[in-house]
Amino acid sequence: MKIFVVNGPNLNRLGKREVNIYGDLSLDEINKKITNYFKNQAEIYFFQSNDEGEIISVIGEADEKYDAIVINPAAYSHYSIAILDALKGISIPSIEVHLSNIYKREDFRKISVTANAAIGVISGLGWKGYILAIEFLLNEYKDIHKNNIFA
Ligand code: DQA
Repeated sequence: MKIFVVNGPNLNRLGKREVNIYGDLSLDEINKKITNYFKNQAEIYFFQSNDEGEIISVIGEADEKYDAIVINPAAYSHYSIAILDALKGISIPSIEVHLSNIYKREDFRKISVTANAAIGVISGLGWKGYILAIEFLLNEYKDIHKNNIFA
């Protein structure tokens, strides 16, 4: 199974920015942990950009290349209808991940417009949220396609 992990703006600065909120691991360190964790189980591809257009473009091409997306759209979660539309416009499933618990932060973070395209959201469990999202996709992928995940 091929999984595309997409990270949005400022997540390239993980380990340096607001470590009390986002933790002290860099994005590279998190990505290595993910790769090691799923060694021999899945092919995982990573992409990070601070640019909304670039994120939209890679999502638009993801259909043909990957089986599922795990995305942390970062601040774009809260207002990018364009990323929402990109995710809605492809046929592969996505799970949205936030390192922090967006529901116990500022009001403007409590709404994710992009989450509307996701089969589910993991928020507040730090970098392990990516692991949980990928684990779910690996275990439940067949049922996701039958729209039967909770049967
Ligand atoms: C974030 C939460 C967003 O509100 C914020 O803009 C981020 C990271 C998270 O992972 O907790 O950059 O998506």
